[in-house]
Amino acid sequence: MPALKVHHIGYLVKKMEAATRSFEALGYEITQPATYDEIRKIHICFLEKDGYRIELVSPASEDSVVSGLIKKFKNSPYHICYETEQFDKDYQELINGGFVSIDTPTPAPALQGRNVVFLMNASMGMIELLQSENAGS
Ligand code: NI
Repeated sequence: MPALKVHHIGYLVKKMEAATRSFEALGYEITQPATYDEIRKIHICFLEKDGYRIELVSPASEDSVVSGLIKKFKNSPYHICYETEQFDKDYQELINGGFVSIDTPTPAPALQGRNVVFLMNASMGMIELLQSENAGS
């Protein structure tokens, strides 16, 4: 079984600034102000409350990686990200276990350039796998 740790919950928002203010009003603290991911054409901001880390994701243009998702889901949580020290091994194990990779491992500028990849399975939907900070792959 892969050794996965929950890293964050990904949350789609249409408007980053307005969403950030609303989360702050509920007591969330910004731990990483919004940055632009030019590979995925999205804005990303990290917030925390009660030990939970939330990643706000908003589309920066019509052809962003989340533009289709946000039409379907509106403002909504849409993935849980799992961190691993054995990225390549766990990635392969997830695929062997029935997950389908929906992109290829790509560096995430908002997460120190660590590799991330998104996978799907029929009974769970989408997850994100993130390379741990203190590991190669
Ligand atoms: Ni994420």
